[in-house]
Amino acid sequence: MMNLCEELLSRATAQIDAADSAVRLEALRVALLGKQGELTALLKGLKDLPDAERPAVGKAINDARTQIENALSHKKSYFEDAALRERLQSERVDFTIDIPDRPIGSIHPINHTRQRICDFFVSMGFFVADSPEIETEFYNFEALNIPSDHPAREVQDTFFLADGIVLRSQTSSGQIRFMEKYPPPFKMISPGRVYRCDDVDATHSPMFHQLEGLVVDKNITMCDLKGILELFAKHFFGSQTKTRFRPSFFPFTEPSVEVDASCFNCGGKGQAGGVPCRVCKGTGWIEILGAGLVNRRVLQNVGVNPDVYSGFAFGMGLDRITNILHGITDLRVVFENDVRFLKQFR
Ligand code: DAH
Repeated sequence: MMNLCEELLSRATAQIDAADSAVRLEALRVALLGKQGELTALLKGLKDLPDAERPAVGKAINDARTQIENALSHKKSYFEDAALRERLQSERVDFTIDIPDRPIGSIHPINHTRQRICDFFVSMGFFVADSPEIETEFYNFEALNIPSDHPAREVQDTFFLADGIVLRSQTSSGQIRFMEKYPPPFKMISPGRVYRCDDVDATHSPMFHQLEGLVVDKNITMCDLKGILELFAKHFFGSQTKTRFRPSFFPFTEPSVEVDASCFNCGGKGQAGGVPCRVCKGTGWIEILGAGLVNRRVLQNVGVNPDVYSGFAFGMGLDRITNILHGITDLRVVFENDVRFLKQFR
């Protein structure tokens, strides 16, 4: 028995050593240690031995088992390591490979202006609303108190898609849509694209961007409008910025004003470096938007009682403000999206 055991151990060790795959190794394990395995058979033979021999032979068999198990597990991890190494090698990524540059984009200057303005008004509790670019004449004109004989309603000014259907010519249409949905009090802004039948030149484009604002509550006055627009101008152009209101006219506001901000380039002096400031053309002021108290008729048109509620509204051109801010003198470059131009805003 002792000899059989020694012989088995040395053969098993040699076989394990020679195994050339994990599959072979597993077959060996079963042949040696499995239920029908050789070592198992030896163990079964123990009972036939005389009592005096049994302990020594039993120990020898157990020792052999431990050695075989160790050899098997050693060889198994060798195969596992090899498999892992092979996989890592085959999945290796070559980071040094030469691929064409992928240029990093930048936020378009108009979007950047829109984001900055939205951030300011959101911080003041305004809701940001969207509204359709394809509108009916009702939302774009009638409800805003723009009569049917108003020049803006001529075909040479507004794009008509069908009878009574237009590409909105102003984001003010969003005021009406909003008020139809939400009862006062509220504060909202609505940025978006607008369209007018203009030929492309340095200051015109058939598509451009506006941002509309509307606040309706009890006891809203010109003071509220002035306060918030002053803060806005300081936020956008710098803390030293002053504002001035000039009387104006819009059908949807009464009274109406145009709002100027003091020029950020010359500090409102109109002169920079001994010559007239090129940003404000020597006036010291930059026109930034139109505004006013919401016309009673507009409130009535959406079923809001103007004896209870009042509001203010404003509308600004995002492209214009962007150009002024960056000293861009030709609107076309903003829309052509030449990457050499856009790169400068990274
Ligand atoms: N809708 C006007 C325009 O396109 C801009 C405007 C002026 C909007 C005054 C307003 C406002 O809400 O109160 O020129």
